[in-house]
Amino acid sequence: MTLTTKPTPGDTGWFVHDRFGMFIHWGLYALAARHEWLKCYEQIPDDVYEKYFKHFDPDLYDPDLWASAAENAGMKYFVITTKHHEGFCLWDSKLTDYKATNTPAGRDLLHPMVDAFRAHNLRTGFYHSLIDWHHPDFIVDNLHPMHNSPDRDKMNEGRDQMRYVDYLHGQVRELLTEFGKVDIMWFDFSYPMPDDPEGRKGKGHTHWRSEELLKMIRDLQPNIILDDRLDLPEGWDIKTPEQVQPREWVKVDGQPVVWEACQTFSGSWGYHRDETSWKSLDQLVQMLIDTVSKGGNLLLNVGPTGRGEFDARALDRLNGMGEWMRLHNKSIYGCTQAPAEFTAPQDCRFTYNPDKKRLYVHVFAWPFIHLHLDGLAGKVEYAQLLNDASEINMQTLEPNKDTLTLVLPVQKPNVTVPVIELFLK
Ligand code: GLC
Repeated sequence: MTLTTKPTPGDTGWFVHDRFGMFIHWGLYALAARHEWLKCYEQIPDDVYEKYFKHFDPDLYDPDLWASAAENAGMKYFVITTKHHEGFCLWDSKLTDYKATNTPAGRDLLHPMVDAFRAHNLRTGFYHSLIDWHHPDFIVDNLHPMHNSPDRDKMNEGRDQMRYVDYLHGQVRELLTEFGKVDIMWFDFSYPMPDDPEGRKGKGHTHWRSEELLKMIRDLQPNIILDDRLDLPEGWDIKTPEQVQPREWVKVDGQPVVWEACQTFSGSWGYHRDETSWKSLDQLVQMLIDTVSKGGNLLLNVGPTGRGEFDARALDRLNGMGEWMRLHNKSIYGCTQAPAEFTAPQDCRFTYNPDKKRLYVHVFAWPFIHLHLDGLAGKVEYAQLLNDASEINMQTLEPNKDTLTLVLPVQKPNVTVPVIELFLK
């Protein structure tokens, strides 16, 4: 038996089939090119940060190129930052002037993006920041750029968080009524901090009126997939571990849930010019496999430049993943964690397609000739390498009668991670 997850209100059927999506972090911080949190990290006041608003001019922006890069990589959905913590909006919101239309870009950047990704058959997700470092009513707290300012208390005097929440809800309404069917709503993030040793105060469901927001979302788009960052115990659809690979299928109160790991290429989510910690293609492909082997999805992030392009490092990784996916997507789409009776050997990951009854062995370190699969003797009808459909011979060697031994070529196939497809009886 494969694991079944706790039922939730949203439609996750397509999601657990498709497995692989593109996250996009794009905002004014692309110009600073040193992390999307720079306004907070460097405690930059609004009037200084304004230079990025004045100079935001993505003259090379062509969302069709983004969408084809995602499609070619094998991704099936995308999640775009409609607004990140800095507060800047990519669409022509009626509720603010702090938006792309008022920069040198001079236009709504979101509608053409949604159209382009839909044209390439990718589903649409909106990331929307709960945090807002630009809105005049958002209460300055310890995650705000002005957290250290001597004027902090004075700044908060006229602020009314509930007026901010009206704005937040109003913008979500725009996003869920002006763009057709939206498949995912991805809020970020709550930090209630009830037990903080220094008594610092964060923000949680009361600061966003999350229950009311949830109700509006389900009224407007009943089947939408909602992430887990509104600080609500119920009502969400997916858990979203960030920048970590869970050790096993993610559970809540002991029960497996639908989950999606979000990961970066290099650490920063926004475009970062000088970061050198880029993951290799091998690591990224292994990450995708590892995620699906534990029943999860991978949302892999690109931070486009201020000119509106994916940079060469991102394109290089996406192309490499696409080449691997072209030959191996059968072991990803429609696949999940293998039934508990099958244990993957050392340096391998299993994924399993329950409809087709096929087990996929992903070999991270290529062994010499023999790969032993305990418990699989007598259960496999046929075995082949997935990349070229070349037969793999099977043996059972004395005295381990329960163990199926695959006889591999000495040379590792010329692919990032070789996969052996086992047709179960
Ligand atoms: C965070 C960060 C952020 C990023 C996000 C992605 O919580 O604040 O910059 O957008 O995680 O998961």
